[in-house]
Amino acid sequence: MLRYYTMLLGFAALFSLASCTSKSEADAKAKNSPSPADAAQTQPEVHGTEVKEIALTNPLNADWVKTGKEIYELKCSACHKLTADKLVGPGWAGVTKNRQPTWIINMITNVDMMLEKDPEAQKLLEQCLVRMPNQNITTEDSRKILEFMRQNDGEK
Ligand code: HEC
Repeated sequence: MLRYYTMLLGFAALFSLASCTSKSEADAKAKNSPSPADAAQTQPEVHGTEVKEIALTNPLNADWVKTGKEIYELKCSACHKLTADKLVGPGWAGVTKNRQPTWIINMITNVDMMLEKDPEAQKLLEQCLVRMPNQNITTEDSRKILEFMRQNDGEK
């Protein structure tokens, strides 16, 4: 049943992908900007993501950690623990060691695209059997959540 549903989503994604690609290719030609193929090379895990580069700095930004924690408590803690234990979704312990920062940011801001296209995200869905809902997090706020995750993983 779930597989069937996932398959349907897959088809839907394929169709929307086809239309998106041709449009962005046209745009790229018009602006003479890097082609979608170039973009895919800098971000090998997923294609068509919005966030391609994140600069990590030490020490951590304390304000971001604080805001990130507040967002976590409000919008994420119902499904994610800070330990390695699974709740509805995977526990966050070690997530910043196991995943690229851009992968995490895209998972937070663009979860539907990730579940449709990214093999790692799809593996998690198979384990958790629940689709992470889109939490309407801005890219800016997702960066603050990432800072909080880094602190949770012991960075200073
Ligand atoms: C309703 C439950 C739910 C909520 C709320 C939720 N998530 Fe998730 N999350 C999941 C599930 C389930 C997965 C695994 C992928 C899937 O099945 O869709 C996941 C996966 C993730 C992953 C990948 C974890 C890994 O081990 O690689 C990250 C990062 C993540 N969520 C971040 C967030 C953030 C940030 C928030 C809050 C803004 C949030 N999630 C809110 C359910 C949730």
